[in-house]
Amino acid sequence: MSDPKTPPRHKGRQWPYRASLPQRYAVDVESYKRVGGSIDLDSFVKGFLPEGTQSADMTRFYQFGLVFEQLLKEQVPGDLLELGTYQGRTATLLAEMARRLGRTVYVLDTFEGFDQRDVVGPDVGAKVGTFSDTSLEAVRALVGEDSVLFVKGYFPDTASELPPDATYCLVHIDCDLYAPITSALEYFYPRMAPGGFIIVHDYTSPSWAGAERAVDEFFANKPESIIPMPDGAGSAMIRKLRKPTPTDNWLLRRRASLLTEAWTKAGDSGARELLGEGWRRSEAWGVWGLGEYHEIELAVPVSAGEAVDLDLDVHAFLAGTQTSQRVIIRSGGAVIGEWSFDTANNRGVRTVRVPVGGHGMATGDVMPISVTFHPTALGIPAELNPAASEKRPLGLALHRLRLRKVA
Ligand SMILES: C[S@@+](CC[C@H](N)C(=O)[O-])C[C@H]1O[C@@H](n2cnc3c(N)ncnc32)[C@H](O)[C@@H]1O
Repeated sequence: MSDPKTPPRHKGRQWPYRASLPQRYAVDVESYKRVGGSIDLDSFVKGFLPEGTQSADMTRFYQFGLVFEQLLKEQVPGDLLELGTYQGRTATLLAEMARRLGRTVYVLDTFEGFDQRDVVGPDVGAKVGTFSDTSLEAVRALVGEDSVLFVKGYFPDTASELPPDATYCLVHIDCDLYAPITSALEYFYPRMAPGGFIIVHDYTSPSWAGAERAVDEFFANKPESIIPMPDGAGSAMIRKLRKPTPTDNWLLRRRASLLTEAWTKAGDSGARELLGEGWRRSEAWGVWGLGEYHEIELAVPVSAGEAVDLDLDVHAFLAGTQTSQRVIIRSGGAVIGEWSFDTANNRGVRTVRVPVGGHGMATGDVMPISVTFHPTALGIPAELNPAASEKRPLGLALHRLRLRKVA
């Protein structure tokens, strides 16, 4: 087992510098967990590292972690697939993702190494049978069978074993050679979900010149561009083009899913996607509104009707000589409400009726609506209380919020 304190040596070059762990998994891991961070690195890394080692391409590992979290956040639909599995290390990551997303991962390989038919063009000289020290049984034992379908054989012949109507949110192509990479791009590109990820390993690796050529030729006439990644073999990352509309995109759908009849907590960034302009960094209890107005960005299904009720559990900033506060509420350029607070009547649930006005929109659409809260007295904590350090004016403190259909 290598010593984690020893800088790695790289074949062909002395290079003492290490790549850092992404901040969400390192210095910020506690905040990451509090806001529902979805990766438990220890369990995720298990199958990826060869038994008894700590050395593998960790940049590649983090890349898969971040892609997974994006799939989860955006809820990109479709299954996962790997072409080129060998002993199953990266397949363990895709299998874990599939289980967590409730999808299927297809795992494709000859499980006998390179095939004679692929030893052509830039890959003349590649040895038939390279990567043959594996077996379907061994990979099955490592990867597990839950949510996994193994497809053994030569690709593209094995494409006929895949469901013809499948779509994919992530396709990992790691078969090194020009011919199968080209076949894979031709087959999977039209089957990718909008926003789905294609990752092609070895793109910038001079060891496998066919990979770069296959990817460049394929994407030269496509609207998507390649993003070269800094993992060891230099993967190329591509996301399938999507055509979002102002009333249907993943952020609106996410906002709509956060704002339901159940309360969403504002603490620990729980309502992050709903908070527009004019808020401080969220704290464990909730979040302070800052400055002249605080904005909440709603996403309301048009099917909700003409108006919805927005409940906020709030209190106003009151301190020293500032013993009351009046807050004007606006939406769509009009005043839609007014709330008053004083020391005897501060914390509580307040409701404002928000017009939806989705005339002419399809019933499945989600309406983006901005609601702004304007405190009329801007109290600066440091001026009202010498012990306070905040020099910016505070308005409303938001604890939780929810949306209700008008009864
Ligand atoms: C570099 S290995 C994959 C490594 C694996 N993704 C990992 O990182 O753990 C490449 C694999 O591609 C497979 N392969 C290459 N051409 C193929 C083809 N035409 N059909 C199916 N599998 C193929 C080989 O059998 C080999 O196992």
